[in-house]
Amino acid sequence: MSAVVAAGILISGAGTNLQALIDRIVAGRLDCAIRVVISNRPDAAGLTRARAAGIPTRVIDHRHFATREDFDRALVEALRAAEVELVLLAGFDRLITAVLLDAFRLRVMNIHPALLPSFAGLHAPRQALDYGVKIAGVTVHFVDEQTDHGPIIIQGAVPVYAGDSEAVLRDRILAVEHEVYARAIQLFAEGRLAVEGRRVVVRGPEPPVPPPLIQW
Ligand code: GAR
Repeated sequence: MSAVVAAGILISGAGTNLQALIDRIVAGRLDCAIRVVISNRPDAAGLTRARAAGIPTRVIDHRHFATREDFDRALVEALRAAEVELVLLAGFDRLITAVLLDAFRLRVMNIHPALLPSFAGLHAPRQALDYGVKIAGVTVHFVDEQTDHGPIIIQGAVPVYAGDSEAVLRDRILAVEHEVYARAIQLFAEGRLAVEGRRVVVRGPEPPVPPPLIQW
């Protein structure tokens, strides 16, 4: 059984993850209603995607606030006004504080373009290339007080090929992001996620066992 989960999405940029969620909702493949899209940057291309889909948008510019906490209070107010249950960070480039986390305890998800705990922080695909890993990927996790750190919901892996540029690897990862974020949200909508310490226990059917991904 699943209920439609009311989500608020925080963006700063292109919004391709936002678009992927919109597309899956329109196709009837994701039990989610996006109540509001909030950007901290007035020129974020993702705002245009939201407007084209008829989703209410807000710009809350972090530069207008004296502290991170004040900024987060404005976010919480906007998310509550939109009657949001689940907050989704989708390329949101601000660190969030306990103000937002306390208001939405274990109801804030983030997507990060790396297999955490490797390569937290900025430019994760570049970090992966510089380190020389052969397998990279993506992580969706609940957000806690530390950056790119909270309990992991779902991960996806991609090979790294010898000639990869940062842009090529980023796009390969991004394609998987678009798939796994929707799956994480659907698991939430179906009430299948339970957090036990650092671990997210997913109730119900397990995914099919994939062949091993081996890369050199
Ligand atoms: C995505 O790759 C997302 O994982 C990353 O920003 C990109 C946003 O793309 N987020 C982070 O690096 C957070 N640490 P999008 O605006 O096209 O969805």
